[in-house]
Amino acid sequence: MTASNTSSAPLDPTSTDAWASLEAHNLEIAGSLREWFDADPQRAERFSRTAADLRVDLSKNLITAETMELLQQLSREVGVEERRDAMFSGAHLNTTEDRAVLHTALRRPEGAAPALEVDGQQIDADVHETLQRVYDFADSVRSGEWTGVTGKKIETVVNIGIGGSDLGPVMVYEALKPLAQDGLSARFLSNIDPTDAHETTRDLDPETTLVIVASKTFTTLETLTNARLVREWLLAGLRENAGLTVEQETEAVAKHFVAVSTALDKVEAFGIDPKNAFGFWDWVGGRYSVDSAIGTVLATVLGPDVFEELLAGFHAMDEHFRTAPAEDNVPLLMGLLNVWNVNFLEAETHAVLPYSQYLHRFPAYLQQLTMESNGKSVRWDGTLATTETGEVFWGEPGTNGQHAFYQLIHQGTRVIPADFIAFATPNHALADGDQDVHELFLANFFAQTKALAFGKTAAEVRAEGTEGSLVAAREFSGDRPTTSIMAPKLTASVLGQLIALYEHITFVQGTVWGINSFDQWGVELGKQLAKDLAGAVAGDDEKISAEDSSTAALIRYYREHREG
Ligand code: F6P
Repeated sequence: MTASNTSSAPLDPTSTDAWASLEAHNLEIAGSLREWFDADPQRAERFSRTAADLRVDLSKNLITAETMELLQQLSREVGVEERRDAMFSGAHLNTTEDRAVLHTALRRPEGAAPALEVDGQQIDADVHETLQRVYDFADSVRSGEWTGVTGKKIETVVNIGIGGSDLGPVMVYEALKPLAQDGLSARFLSNIDPTDAHETTRDLDPETTLVIVASKTFTTLETLTNARLVREWLLAGLRENAGLTVEQETEAVAKHFVAVSTALDKVEAFGIDPKNAFGFWDWVGGRYSVDSAIGTVLATVLGPDVFEELLAGFHAMDEHFRTAPAEDNVPLLMGLLNVWNVNFLEAETHAVLPYSQYLHRFPAYLQQLTMESNGKSVRWDGTLATTETGEVFWGEPGTNGQHAFYQLIHQGTRVIPADFIAFATPNHALADGDQDVHELFLANFFAQTKALAFGKTAAEVRAEGTEGSLVAAREFSGDRPTTSIMAPKLTASVLGQLIALYEHITFVQGTVWGINSFDQWGVELGKQLAKDLAGAVAGDDEKISAEDSSTAALIRYYREHREG
């Protein structure tokens, strides 16, 4: 397979027949979820689909069969499936950086045929060679063969990275924590706030700490600053506790620092032995990289077997997305449904609500995936987007969210589509007397989507004995759209499936809107200005005065109030 060029102008979705039909349909669509469920006892089945181990119930969305048919027509008209195939085959869909988009290649099983060759690179061979190096390294740390410079076994792996080099690894680690090897744990250092470096290292023993510096570009200010801080902490600790000499410092860094990057020359320049570096490639976007060598921390602490299972889960969803017919294709349908919610029902945000404490970082992970990908006003040919684009993704695990922000989802004035995610089997089955606590937990999961869909009428409120102005306050309109995603259990494979599901949903939305979901120019200006402001922040009066009045006043406030 070789890459094909797909840099042609995107089709304006609003110019399609399907868009016009969807607009008309939106005005005509009548009824409510109560009525639709009453009229069609098969509604749940009609709008439920299976993708690998995930059962996805779309029936509590504000859709009819016609809505879904028109959305699929839209997909055909803008060519979602063609663009999907182009992505899988290595086309340079990332036009602003002239790169292929091949995160799906990271999880192709060894020996998959036909072998993938893109831009002269044997992709499968390179992916599996790197994976093997990561696994060998992970095994040597896990077995105790790899030790710190004083010969002690590694107990803590600190991953230093930010954005895609942090959020994916920390989210997966938190989700699969019970699978960590006894006596081995991970920590994650990302923020340039020095508090983060302090808190991450303050109770660690340098002799038993291994650091992974993870950065696709190896130029990121936060990561390189933190790596230098931790190197200093580590060497100082080893000097103090273990009598490390200056001559032994290079060896200490070699035994305690490894790196993951696409820029191996920069890794070496930083002082990390290239032998201890794991590479990946420019066709993997940072927010799509948890399944590359960026997952070295995961393979090390959770184990190569767990990482393999995670990759297999990703691949299962890739295969579903690549091959399932449109009407059964879950990422396609969910992506189109998001377009319906954003562009026709005018949703501005989208909640993701995992009923699993282990998934507590999943919404944060999804924020980068979705919002760095589709938070754009320009299309892949440089012209302006013709519709609203990326919605704000947010969320918290249930049931905590129920006691915080669900009020607004239930009774606020805005439409907030929400994905509810739950698992049949608990990771820890605990009982409160006779009460299975997981059942209590799931009862909440089921109750919320039911309440959001069907609400409570004024008559029902009155029938409970409420009167007067309180009736309106206690009424629930219903018709608040939700999608329920269930799986048998939160395993590594299921987690991989979930991540890939949202990657592909994001892709479908981007494609409909004509967006290159794989660049992130919007983060550059802030980075550049932070560099430019360094002199003013350090107290150069001339530079402070050259700033706008607000920025100058804020910097002066800082200069006047900083202690020490
Ligand atoms: O600033 C945004 C960003 O470029 C993300 O896209 C990326 O995941 C993150 O920074 C970290 O970049 P790197 O892995 O190159 O350090």
